[in-house]
Amino acid sequence: MRKLSQSLDRPIVLVGLMGAGKSTVGRRLARRLGLPFIDSDQAIEDAAGLSAGELFERFGDKDFRDGERRVVARLVDEGDIRVIATGGGAYVDPATREMLNQRAITVWLDAPIDILAERTGRRDTRPLLRDGNRARTLERLSKERESAYSQAHIRIRSGEGAHRDVVDSVLEAVDAYLDSLVGAGPGPSSGSGPDANDRSAPA
Ligand code: S3P
Repeated sequence: MRKLSQSLDRPIVLVGLMGAGKSTVGRRLARRLGLPFIDSDQAIEDAAGLSAGELFERFGDKDFRDGERRVVARLVDEGDIRVIATGGGAYVDPATREMLNQRAITVWLDAPIDILAERTGRRDTRPLLRDGNRARTLERLSKERESAYSQAHIRIRSGEGAHRDVVDSVLEAVDAYLDSLVGAGPGPSSGSGPDANDRSAPA
């Protein structure tokens, strides 16, 4: 994947619901491309000295989102070509979404609710999932956020299959996306929609 990493001129940003595998896939993707990896929740934690979950609980949704918007903008402003995993709500913010679609290649990792519920059940670090039924909350968030996530340049459907397969699918889709831009004029289009580059990782 040397060629692909050489033709990248902006970061690859992974978006999607909690438990979709953004950090795990992002780290592996970065390794395959020989690029650095950074996680926006981790960057928030480094800046604030508290975990994203603690900040969310202590300051509430609005303040957390304001901080998250600034941190994600800073990560892109730094100009490094790298893989960035975002917290599940970051791309739902209209300003962040527009900025990312202008300045990054955005990849929606989309996994079925039962898989998200199972994965997020392994650790109790997400305030949004503490009350009530995890699967039901994820289902509601999925409905609320789908129209935002579907504006990502690339959608990768992932199932129970290995993360390695998801990484392969992302690499292929990014390659195809970059090819599609050749001759399409300067700069990335903003949000080519869910069907334009819809890939499935083998389940
Ligand atoms: C959130 C997702 C979390 C974290 C915060 C809020 C969300 O990140 O940013 O708890 O609103 O979906 P992950 O998607 O990495 O779990």
